[in-house]
This record gives sequence, C-alpha cells and structure tokens, in this order.
Amino acid sequence: MTETYEPKIIGFLCNWCSYAGADLAGASRSKYPSNVKIIRVPCSGRVSPELVIRTFREGADGVMVLGCHIGDCHYGTGNHRTAHRMPLLQAMLEFTGIEPERFVFKWVSASEGEVFAQTVRDLTEKLHQLPPMAEVLERKGAV
Ligand code: FES
Repeated sequence: MTETYEPKIIGFLCNWCSYAGADLAGASRSKYPSNVKIIRVPCSGRVSPELVIRTFREGADGVMVLGCHIGDCHYGTGNHRTAHRMPLLQAMLEFTGIEPERFVFKWVSASEGEVFAQTVRDLTEKLHQLPPMAEVLERKGAV
C-alpha cells in the first residue's frame, strides 16, 4: 500500500434527502475528507448493483449509496428497492473479489449532515486498511 494513498470515494446520493444532508454537512463546516465525489441521483432506488460494480471497475476505491430513510422516499418505495438490492450486491462483491468493506449503503436525511460526514470518515478509514482498487484490478486482470 502506498504511503500517500488517498482513497477515491464515489457517493451516489438521492437528491431529496442525502444530497441535502451532504449540503448541510458542508454548510455546518462538518469535517470530512475531501476525497468523495458526489453524484446526485433522483432516488437511491435508481442505483443498480451493476452501476456500483462498474464504478469499482473504473477505479473507485469506495462507493456509497445514500438515500432517504424508509418511509421518507420522495417516490414512495424507491428506497425499499435499495434495501432489497444492496445486501445482495454486498454478497456479489465478495464473489467478484471486491472487498465488501469498500461499499456502504445507508439512510441519511436532509437534517443529518453529521451522519453524512461520519459515513465518509468511517469509509475513508476502512479504505486506508485496504490496497488501492487500481492494485486489486491489476492483480486480478478484469474483475
Ligand atoms: Fe431518496 Fe428515494 S427519493 S431514496
């Protein structure tokens, strides 16, 4: 593992809750690493397992899928779909040789800026214990 390794995290955040939570973290000056790139999605239910795996294949060291709490999804049951699919994805990751610790899915509301910041800090810390994804991909050939 390289000393200067700064893990790259891609966060898929639903527009209605988690993106607003991340915005609040910024506005409240919550401290979290700047290594997260946020992709705003209409609903966490729009993020497919295939998209997450593709994101890892393209070199992300960590991926987060954050959405509204159950009962708060702007589209009713979009996050129910997330709740069903993401645990399956965690099992798939293991099968493809990607450490499941690299992936987080969580509910973060618009008022939970600190939850967002803590999630990024925790994932960054975990990723520091793992090799960069680029090394993993190189070792395995294509995942
Ligand atoms: Fe946020 Fe569906 S709108 S999870």
